[in-house]
Amino acid sequence: MNPQIEILADLNALVDRALELVVENLHAAIATRNIATIALSGGSTPKPLYEKLAQQNLPWDKLHIFWGDERYVPADHPDSNQRMARLAWLDKVPIPPANIHPMPTDDAAPAIAAQKHEAELQTFFNAKPGEFPAFDVILLGIGDDAHTASLFPHTPALQVRDRLITVGDKDGNPRITFTAPLINAAQTVIFMVAGASKYNALTQIFADQADENTYPARLIKPQGELWWLLERSTNFSK
Ligand code: 6PG
Repeated sequence: MNPQIEILADLNALVDRALELVVENLHAAIATRNIATIALSGGSTPKPLYEKLAQQNLPWDKLHIFWGDERYVPADHPDSNQRMARLAWLDKVPIPPANIHPMPTDDAAPAIAAQKHEAELQTFFNAKPGEFPAFDVILLGIGDDAHTASLFPHTPALQVRDRLITVGDKDGNPRITFTAPLINAAQTVIFMVAGASKYNALTQIFADQADENTYPARLIKPQGELWWLLERSTNFSK
């Protein structure tokens, strides 16, 4: 499905549009299956979205929270994506603690943590080995290098096609990340991109020809809906 690209005037407008899409998709999932699953992205762009989600009146007991990637640091570390989302949103709403499914980062070996989280997802979704469960919503950002989640350029994580979760590598620092096939199984993927520094990455991601290993966000071609919400400051137009 061709991506739906929207240019938003500023970060606030981008966040409001993302809020609209997220709430709409979560309500639709709950109306259909009485449950909704969302995987959060880290970084700075989504934080105001999480703060606005904290003000929504959602059926919190029917919502399950996951992360698309995580830095391999303790949950209370300033770099933790889990910590950012809890402070901005999850600690402010009555969501059952069991509905929050952080990526483990307390194993000595990140590969063990990745295996554990894969097993947790398979159990949660009742997925058989080789099956890629469909998250209702996956939020993503991109780096200036066109990485997404923790799928960084020219790293082994980009080649993983038979796992849900793998170990990412950012300049030698381990990450836990969804694999490209798991992201591509989602019902709805929403990219939130802001800032002039993302212009070159966007140009390569949307180019007719470019190397997926160099621009990993090109790997994201979900079966379902794909939204690119771009702040005008990215100066990108398709
Ligand atoms: C992370 C994110 C990462 C992020 C991009 C964009 O763990 O850092 O998951 O993939 O989405 O780096 O980050 P900004 O939103 O801060 O530009």
